[in-house]
Amino acid sequence: MAPKEILKIENLTTYFYTWAGVVKAVDGVSLDVREGETLGLVGESGSGKSVTALSILRIVPRPGKIIDGKIIYKGENLLAKTENEMQQIRGKEIAYISQDPATSLNPVFSIADQLTEVIRRHQNVTKEEALKKAIELFRLVEIADPEIKIWNYPHQLSGGMKQRIAIARALSCQPSLLLADEPTTNLDVTIQAQILELMKNLKKKLGMSMILITHDMGVVAGVADRINVMYAGRVCEVASTKTIFRNPLHPYTRALLEAVPNVAMKREKLKIIPGAIPNLISPPSGCRFHPRCDFAVAECASVVPPLVEIEPEHYVACIRAKEFMENGKGVKK
Ligand SMILES: Nc1ncnc2c1ncn2[C@@H]1O[C@H](COP(=O)(O)OP(=O)(O)OP(=O)(O)O)[C@@H](O)[C@H]1O
Ligand SMILES: [Mg+2]
Repeated sequence: MAPKEILKIENLTTYFYTWAGVVKAVDGVSLDVREGETLGLVGESGSGKSVTALSILRIVPRPGKIIDGKIIYKGENLLAKTENEMQQIRGKEIAYISQDPATSLNPVFSIADQLTEVIRRHQNVTKEEALKKAIELFRLVEIADPEIKIWNYPHQLSGGMKQRIAIARALSCQPSLLLADEPTTNLDVTIQAQILELMKNLKKKLGMSMILITHDMGVVAGVADRINVMYAGRVCEVASTKTIFRNPLHPYTRALLEAVPNVAMKREKLKIIPGAIPNLISPPSGCRFHPRCDFAVAECASVVPPLVEIEPEHYVACIRAKEFMENGKGVKK
């Protein structure tokens, strides 16, 4: 039986109409998230990950605009909904956690006040019941002494604690889909690992689906079921996490993997991807990665590679993918 999708994005196109020109931030992205899975959305800074998430919630800031595509959530196109209908979906059905937990908390109110307010906005409960629920949420995100800690103000909390609270807040209305946008980027490495472990446990416990956005392959390695690699506003490779790590077929994926620090690898050996992510006002022709690609051939500058299923459940947008596949060990010259 084919897996059931909770979210299916087709040809999403979101542009920013700036004075300098049209920024093609998300340019024909198609992806799906299956029931109960964590999809890792990976790519360098500026590849369009956040704009994809903001498009799903329809909160793309000006001068940005969704100009084409479909975002099918539980069988209904979110792009065809009214603003009122979207307000019911945000937070309640689809929740969002940003990379900066501090911005989601108001410094002048206690955490108890802020969490109960969010709970009461979506659920018809008394203040006391909301407080009880807030304390339960604290337990869920594994905060010790919840009855005491809940009365803290944001400045009394560490970064890791704030991110736990941001997660609690996102989970307060039991969303079916969680969009976690670089939830650990601003945290210390050890705290990062704890938050990722927490998110993994929560997803299992609550059975929700999640899109985990990151620029770090190391972060998604242990958490994501499948990985969707983005480059310059387009999808370049999609497969199970295992397949992405064992048999990457897009040179960009390969480059991202070589940039993951490995304990066994000496620091100096860590590769960086040469060149910068292109300007999205006038992106490179053909495959957008070709100017930085070690494997590019003349055709790459003129042909836009379609996303093709090279082996079951493994999609690649590279004209040489088949050849790399036949080599048996992923991308090779
Ligand atoms: N408000 C805006 N106005 C103009 N361009 C924007 C705006 N917001 C985003 N962009 C552009 O859209 C592109 C994609 O940005 P996006 O924030 O989605 O990248 P990202 O993959 O999330 O990167 P990061 O890892 O840095 O968060 C970039 O080229 C960015 O400059
Ligand atoms: Mg981002």
